[in-house]
Amino acid sequence: MKVRLHQFLSKTGHFSSKREAKDAVWRGEITVNGSIVKDIAYQFNPRNRPVEYQGRRLFLPDSDITFVLNKPSGYLCARINENERAIGKRSVFDLFESEVDATVHARLLTVGRLDEATTGLLIVTTSGDLVHRVTAPEHHVAKRYWVSSKRPLTEEAEQQLVEGVSIELESEGVISYYLTQPSKLERINERDFILEVVEGKKRQVRRMVAAVGNAVEHLHRLSIANAALEDFDLDEGAMREVKPTEIEAWFEQA
Ligand code: URA
Repeated sequence: MKVRLHQFLSKTGHFSSKREAKDAVWRGEITVNGSIVKDIAYQFNPRNRPVEYQGRRLFLPDSDITFVLNKPSGYLCARINENERAIGKRSVFDLFESEVDATVHARLLTVGRLDEATTGLLIVTTSGDLVHRVTAPEHHVAKRYWVSSKRPLTEEAEQQLVEGVSIELESEGVISYYLTQPSKLERINERDFILEVVEGKKRQVRRMVAAVGNAVEHLHRLSIANAALEDFDLDEGAMREVKPTEIEAWFEQA
């Protein structure tokens, strides 16, 4: 839906008055889709035309934004405090500081979590609905991981991973055992294989590989539902905003 530029700016909450928003336009400080627009009545669709003020993207307070990130190793999928920062911890949210303004940054959530050392596809969004759609156990959303194991994967271990293994889960100091659902496994070579799981228990893949007497050397997420990292052509640490129509296609049945 189209809106007028001055109305959009007033709704973002960045300007203390309508007059201040209009002045910013007249001064040439606002770009729409990368071009300076000096017409306050300029009409556009904010869903596909990004607006920037002093180099920072502006958003309507109630609109959602979603990114695909190629997560680098060494970043936590959590907000971190000063003590954690002091010992060298870093958060994936740090990577978005120059990407979105502070109000949007505070609303960002990760869609599930990857371990600090895991690399690959991470969806970061302001939409709690999207988080639920992917992570609710009853939705059985498939996640594919490239696993490099420390030792060659035996045929017996491969069979066990496919059929389901018992992994240890810990919650508030209480240990329980969980039998993983059947998964798909595609062998690449002796130590590399692609594992597709439909659950998202904490450190699930590492625990599954440990349960068959092996260990993960490196773990990289390739895809979630139909969203494949390779389709985004992102270097490690790079991200791209995705449109609502792209997100819908992630969940379409093949
Ligand atoms: N399973 C794991 O063990 N770790 C991850 O980061 C993701 C899935």
